[in-house]
Amino acid sequence: MSYKQRTILVSSALPYVNGPMHMGHLVEYLQSDIWVRFQKLRGHKCTYVCASDSHGTPIMLKARELGVTPEQLTEEISAQFIRDFSDFNVEFDNYHTTHSIENEELVVEIYKRLRATGDIYTKTIEQSFDEKEGMFLPDRFVRGTCPRCKSEDQPGDACEICGTTNTPETLINPVSVLSGTTPVRRESEHYFFKLSEYEKRLRQWMNDATLDKHVIAKLDEWFDAGLQDWDISRDAPYFGFRIPDTDDKYFYVWLDAPVGYLASFKNLCDRRDDLNFDDYWKPGSDAEVYHFIGKDIMYFHTLFWPAVLRGAGFRTPTSVYAHGFLTVNGQKMSKSRGTFIKARSYLDNLNPEFLRYYYAAKLGRTIEDIDLNLDDFVARVNADLVGKLINIASRCAGFISKQFDGQLAASLPDPALFAEFADASDIIADHYERREYSKAMRLIMSLADKANRYIDELKPWIMSKDENTVADVQLVCTQGVNMFRSLMIYLSPVLPVVADGARAFLNEGGWRWQDASTPLLSTTLSQFKPLLTRVEPEQVQRLIEQSQESSPVTATKSDDDTISIDDFMKVDLRIARIEKAETVDGADKLLSLTLDVGDSQRTVFAGIKAAYDPASLVGRHVIVVANLAPRKMKFGVSEGMVLAAGPGGSEIFLLSPDDGAKPGMRVK
Ligand code: MSP
Ligand code: ZN
Repeated sequence: MSYKQRTILVSSALPYVNGPMHMGHLVEYLQSDIWVRFQKLRGHKCTYVCASDSHGTPIMLKARELGVTPEQLTEEISAQFIRDFSDFNVEFDNYHTTHSIENEELVVEIYKRLRATGDIYTKTIEQSFDEKEGMFLPDRFVRGTCPRCKSEDQPGDACEICGTTNTPETLINPVSVLSGTTPVRRESEHYFFKLSEYEKRLRQWMNDATLDKHVIAKLDEWFDAGLQDWDISRDAPYFGFRIPDTDDKYFYVWLDAPVGYLASFKNLCDRRDDLNFDDYWKPGSDAEVYHFIGKDIMYFHTLFWPAVLRGAGFRTPTSVYAHGFLTVNGQKMSKSRGTFIKARSYLDNLNPEFLRYYYAAKLGRTIEDIDLNLDDFVARVNADLVGKLINIASRCAGFISKQFDGQLAASLPDPALFAEFADASDIIADHYERREYSKAMRLIMSLADKANRYIDELKPWIMSKDENTVADVQLVCTQGVNMFRSLMIYLSPVLPVVADGARAFLNEGGWRWQDASTPLLSTTLSQFKPLLTRVEPEQVQRLIEQSQESSPVTATKSDDDTISIDDFMKVDLRIARIEKAETVDGADKLLSLTLDVGDSQRTVFAGIKAAYDPASLVGRHVIVVANLAPRKMKFGVSEGMVLAAGPGGSEIFLLSPDDGAKPGMRVK
């Protein structure tokens, strides 16, 4: 196989400095760190940059609330982020900040180029203004009653209860969250970028870039809706960079944030002789550029960003890799449930390698959300990492060190079995490359099962007691150690610290990916030390307790029939597929449904017999309340509730979003 070294630049989205790092952010940083480590292990020249996103109104106000300057806030929080990243073994080649000289220079340069090509114009717009505070208000900083559902205290962009799109003007009784006064409308001149003129160029980028189909689907949706010009300015007071030739206009944070990728890279290039900024960012560059992001910021990265780069004469990204959002125990992270878990709290209680593995075992290339189920987490890491992986080494190491002076044999007793481990190399590499980590982990664990079965069958602990076989123990254990070693090399992007421990045990220097395909023979091993210890459920329990914030007694009105958004969020609505539908003996209204809810099967009794022929239901999708406590009924236990609409009797209509529906999908 001919080998061509690729030149790759990778970024992770830049975290805002107005709050601590949490488990959701880590999906992003662990996903991209694993990818970068994989590329480096393969021998490619891969550079990984990130930075703090320091600008914008929320950060300015957060600093004000804490009585510090925004610069101080950025420094303080960035220092925390850097510690969190380092403790989770996220290894950036550079971590910078958007509030930097490099970024300001680049943003101003880009702005001037766009202005020169006629892509910038000004227009006077009207906006909410807080007269007491003397500042314009982002829509979210105005709150009031939703005109549609009449819920109070809703933000001025979208109602959190009914989802209606609002503006500060459509709200009833709008107030500024800063001063509590009623905002007025005030005019101001804003700077716009002509995104509307970029459709053709963006469509071309979309076709050239190696985008996933769900990202393309999103882009098509946005093209169909029509591209709107983009307001890139904000009025003072604002924490950001001032727009050249103005007194009191600043670049909107989302203009300078992605430029932060360039700035962080530039800052690194200035320190490194082997990296040249233009080699990466001039049009026609051979370098590959990938941005890892969450699905919530796709618009910025797949429309604004490529358009701005293109307009300003830079190359565009090779691809944008978007991931889904994290839920914990099937729900949005919540402070009151103790599932809003900070990176630091996790580190105080648990080994970061476990989370790296758990996320890897769940991550694919889609924007589907991923769930951190804490019981599953404990079971999974104990079973896979301790029970399967480490077990291979610990079952063989003792014999080699005690009976053979730590010497590995000169050959393998079962080269065909080892070849299976070597031959998996390309498939596993392909899974990593395509961000199909869950598939890679599954394949690796199935090989671990094979290795354990081999040891179970040959039983070195019995062989070593029998004179006739004692000499072969070295061979069998050399085979075991080598299977462990190959798997450890494959897993090293995910488990860098365990891999370091394994390499120390094997007395090896650096690993390259292809080392997994050649066995290690006739060398001396170091003393084996346990590489991981089991997670105890109590550790997770403690983590949840520490993360739990007693929920403030909010003024939810209990005297009417409404439920709070928190109550609503408790309902776990999911798509289920009807696997079986049967009549129930002795029940004239009920059908017994066997449902596939994605991760399990459920039996649910539904009073829909008059409306549906059971045979016609098989294969249909329904919406089910998946977290309803099981109810014991006369005919058995019902483990959920199927949602339907209609007056009843023969007129009951199941919701059936068959189009693209998949068992287990969440509905909210
Ligand atoms: N500052 C912007 C990004 C600018 S990039 C030029 C931002 N910051 S963020 O701190 O809110 O988020 C950082 C990254 O973490 C984003 O990719 C975001 O999608 C991701 N996540 C934040 N919360 C998340 C979850 N709950 N789950 C998964 N990813 C999440 O956006
Ligand atoms: Zn509403």
